Amino acid sequence: MSETIKYVDRVGTNCNKWDNMTARFGENDLMALWVADMDFVVPEAARQAAMKYAEFGIYGYYMVPDGYYDAFINWEKKYHNCEVKREWIRFSPGVVSPINWWVNMKTKPGDGVIVMTPVYYPFLDAINNNGRKLISSDLVNNNGVYTVDFADFEKKIADNNVKAFILSSPHNPVGRVWTREELEQMLAICRKHNVFVIADEIHHDLIMPGHREHTEILNIPGYTDMLVAITAGSKTFNLAGCQNSFVILPDEKLREEFDAFLNSIRIRNGNAFGYVAVEAAFREGREWLDKVIEIINSNAKYVETELKAQLPKAVVSPLEGTYLQWIDLGAYVEQGKMKELIQDKCRIAVDYGDWFGGDRFAGFIRFNLATSPENIKEAVARIVKNIKG
Ligand SMILES: Cc1ncc(COP(=O)(O)O)c(C=O)c1O
Repeated sequence: MSETIKYVDRVGTNCNKWDNMTARFGENDLMALWVADMDFVVPEAARQAAMKYAEFGIYGYYMVPDGYYDAFINWEKKYHNCEVKREWIRFSPGVVSPINWWVNMKTKPGDGVIVMTPVYYPFLDAINNNGRKLISSDLVNNNGVYTVDFADFEKKIADNNVKAFILSSPHNPVGRVWTREELEQMLAICRKHNVFVIADEIHHDLIMPGHREHTEILNIPGYTDMLVAITAGSKTFNLAGCQNSFVILPDEKLREEFDAFLNSIRIRNGNAFGYVAVEAAFREGREWLDKVIEIINSNAKYVETELKAQLPKAVVSPLEGTYLQWIDLGAYVEQGKMKELIQDKCRIAVDYGDWFGGDRFAGFIRFNLATSPENIKEAVARIVKNIKG
């Protein structure tokens, strides 16, 4: 199947990104570069599989097909050199839900849970909404390139009764693809201090050309008794509405714990359309993904080059992975004035830096690059024009 990547105008399709901005931004008529899904039609195989199922006309209780697991397991083997066994995989309707569940399972109210900030803000919610203590270890920002402050990470763990660590690998929003050595060091510190690791690998397939391969946390030997890996086809293939994710637990005791928890909240399976589309995407979606990565990468390069030329004091973090670009406009925008610039003047909806861990990130914005080059060019032009005046 030869794939053509189709960009679609999604306005008026009841989508969160373009039609539901009012809840967060107070208005809807903005260029949507915020929530992380793509403006591209999904792999053709996934679209056709969903249509075939729709045409069948009966949508009763559905048995999860073996092919769904096989397609994912084969993908993991082929593209991540990771051997996942069928019996290790559990269902969840998304990635954020099981992050919350594991926080509840592995920590008690008042316990510390650590994250590396700036970080995807539902991690912060998972800690705060469950009455746990949010412990932030800031990444070190070296002219837009972020690294882990391991001494700070360990000290914060030791000083704050930290019982769990929520890891974004690759990291949303700074775009880092952690090296094996970095991951090993994180895990060794967590082992030393008895910290459970909740590894969110939802962006693991979105690795930009020229950057190192992503290392699956399960490919680091010796830690499976203290971690859960959670991933999905949702970011990879733009299938977030399908609502199924993979909670991977090689450790039998952890599986028993998770099964008991799922039984207590009575969650079993997801919806049939989701399985059908996700299976087809993992089976036949590679060409589509490669083409989409080219578009994202080219959008990222455009933003980098154009901002460097027009606004030399802006710092664009190099995009190693994800399709979310972290941009420091602090040199141009006064504290508290980011919304005025981006929303009121530029008419763009972005994720604001302070959402990712506090006011110290207020000079940043996060751009969603998974849209047409025209949208990206237009957004950059508006920002340049309004900053330069
Ligand atoms: C790091 C990360 N985890 C999880 C999610 C969303 O997961 P879900 O919608 O499956 O709960 C996102 C979406 O942006 C994300 O960036």
